[in-house]
Amino acid sequence: MLKDKKIIVFVAGGIAVYKTVALVRELIKQGAQVKVAMTENATKFVAPLTFQVLSQNKVFLDTFEEEDSEHVSHIHLADWADYAIISPATANVLAKIANGIADDFVTTTLLAIHCPVFIIPAMNSNMYMNPASKNNRMKISQFGYTLMEPDIGFLAEGYEGKGRYPELFRIMGEFEQFILKHEINLPLKGKKVIVTAGGTKERIDPVRYISNDSSGKMGHALAKVLRDKGAEVLLITTSSLNVAAGIKKVTVSSAHEMFKEVDKYFATADSLIMAAAVSDYSPKYEQNKKIKKDNQLVQLELVKTVDILKTMGSKKKKQLLVGFAAETNDLKENAQKKLIEKNCDLIIANDVSQKDRGFNVDTNEVTLFTLKREPLQLSLNKKEVIAEKIVDKIISMIQEKEDEESDTNRKNNS
Ligand SMILES: Cc1cc2nc3c(=O)[nH]c(=O)nc-3n(C[C@H](O)[C@H](O)[C@H](O)COP(=O)(O)O)c2cc1C
Repeated sequence: MLKDKKIIVFVAGGIAVYKTVALVRELIKQGAQVKVAMTENATKFVAPLTFQVLSQNKVFLDTFEEEDSEHVSHIHLADWADYAIISPATANVLAKIANGIADDFVTTTLLAIHCPVFIIPAMNSNMYMNPASKNNRMKISQFGYTLMEPDIGFLAEGYEGKGRYPELFRIMGEFEQFILKHEINLPLKGKKVIVTAGGTKERIDPVRYISNDSSGKMGHALAKVLRDKGAEVLLITTSSLNVAAGIKKVTVSSAHEMFKEVDKYFATADSLIMAAAVSDYSPKYEQNKKIKKDNQLVQLELVKTVDILKTMGSKKKKQLLVGFAAETNDLKENAQKKLIEKNCDLIIANDVSQKDRGFNVDTNEVTLFTLKREPLQLSLNKKEVIAEKIVDKIISMIQEKEDEESDTNRKNNS
């Protein structure tokens, strides 16, 4: 999501400057182009050289150091940025922004900036709760800037309070959400997509169950890419893997629970991607006490679970329906059969007999089957990369479906 985004990080003089080093490193790792501007006081905490090396750009410090005769550097930098972050935002810098003061490079550039601004305040809790600081934050949010809430916890002063610089994962989660809010041209903006993930667990007794090797990694990777492309994602999962910010997660265990959740939301969704490995059979009776080991022979009676994909295929109206086929043999025949029998638009088939793809590994190789086009093979790669390619395909299919619909409507109206 951050790839090639141009981001200015404004660093002010608080104790959390050293934590901003990790933030800049993370932004660079995610593919952003980063330029850093520091207040004079910020340079007392961390040397500009650290930010220069990490961002691979010179650090801006002095409004009057005009090296390029063709540009005024603070205006040029303000025009360059797609997004700005102030980290840490000191009480002093917040007061200056609230009052339009421009007396150093950071505040002068901030006054000239016209991109969305994301602010991470961090300070002593008494400074944070001071009425003047509260008033400044209120004014700044009225300007349309986004202010993060600091963490509550142990402060550098040795006591508890609100004002701590947040953990990096929380900053990145909220910053990604902030970017999604401001990106208007994302291809799946306004689309509701349900993704299922993980292997279901069919209970035998309180300590035993029938399941499979699915980890949920493929479904979770798909959910993240869909979110990055602007979709409103509902992830119905059996997995405890982390979920990216902004994705609504519902945790389920059995095939029946998964069915109930999918069924609840399917009618209002634009697409359903069934990446979960749903058990085909479930014990007819779940024992409420642990089965003892005294018996030589225990017989389990299994009944078929509800076929979620097929059921949704029969209810399908405008939705794009995507299924996965985990096969050990006759991949093509089985995938094409599934495509038709379950009324799917796309089947993603993988050969789970190989160790480096499919269940419980970080890589996958899949073939995409549709009714209209030749199968498309996506060669072995990380699940995140495969997810991006699958989502590209889904986007083009949704587009095609919408074009067909508007063609039909036009013909009917003429
Ligand atoms: C050791 C130390 C730590 C400080 N930490 C913070 C802080 O976390 N947040 C803050 O708002 N001010 C903090 N200050 C006060 C600011 O450095 C001071 O208000 C300064 O004028 C801010 O300048 P600037 O906003 O131009 O960078 C700290 C000062 C010192 C000496």
